[in-house]
Amino acid sequence: PKYNTIQDIRNKYISGTPLSMCTAYDFITASWVNKANCDLLLVGDSLAMTSLGYDSTITLSLDEFKYHVNSVCRAEGSSMVVVDMPFGTFESGISDGLKNAIDIMKLHSKVTSLKVEVGSYTKDKYAMKFIEELCSRGIPVMAHIGLTPQKVHSLGGYKVQGNKSLLQMQELFETAKQLQKIGCWSIVIECVPHKMAGFITSKLSIPTIGIGAGNGTSGQVLVISDLLGMQGDSVPKFVNQTVNMADIATGGLKEYIASVVDRTFPERDSHTFKVKEDLWNEFLS
Ligand code: KIV
Ligand code: NA
Repeated sequence: PKYNTIQDIRNKYISGTPLSMCTAYDFITASWVNKANCDLLLVGDSLAMTSLGYDSTITLSLDEFKYHVNSVCRAEGSSMVVVDMPFGTFESGISDGLKNAIDIMKLHSKVTSLKVEVGSYTKDKYAMKFIEELCSRGIPVMAHIGLTPQKVHSLGGYKVQGNKSLLQMQELFETAKQLQKIGCWSIVIECVPHKMAGFITSKLSIPTIGIGAGNGTSGQVLVISDLLGMQGDSVPKFVNQTVNMADIATGGLKEYIASVVDRTFPERDSHTFKVKEDLWNEFLS
């Protein structure tokens, strides 16, 4: 294909080059991510909050999500597309989950991998089983551990994970190892102390992609609206906000509005179309 394959990503991981990943939610953001040559593009269910204004990812419907996946996949470029399994698309049963997973894979040939959030292997046996079923059917899975936003209620909030007790640390490590064993090709580690994420990464032979997990992971992922300051408000402390698009955008809009109000826009000649003088005179007469 004209875009990165899992093997390309794997080769980069083996060569020790950090992997870059960023979310995208529609054609325009996906075009930017591709144009910047980001290794991986995630259609994250975070779009529920960033693009659609919901207050969590839980209320997002699969139909709404599919509409965004399709839009993202229409953008051309090399970034490998990974798609989230939203809340409610697999929790009701393995066969429902497989059906939804296959439906998402079928949306577009660019959809290369799914991403599935999973709790600790001792408590979330169901998600472990579901992931194993996907992997055994040749559906590539990027697992997501640590802070898993779809489980915000059972976690009791958006809190750092893998730092509370020895048991929690051991379970996080063990979960990562199990996920590798059952066939995941990579793992997202979210909001985990950098020592834990680095240790887990050093013990695995598949790439880890960190978010709020320090610099010891094989790669990084950020939410595009945080990274580019698209909402202008405060972002989590682990985000490297490189530009403030909200400021740039509202500034540009204010300039436009002022130019309309003071009639400096549109300019009489450059922003308009012409009609031949003789035709115009004929029209008037
Ligand atoms: O939905 C999302 O944006 C994610 C990333 C934060 C990893 O799952
Ligand atoms: Na997500």
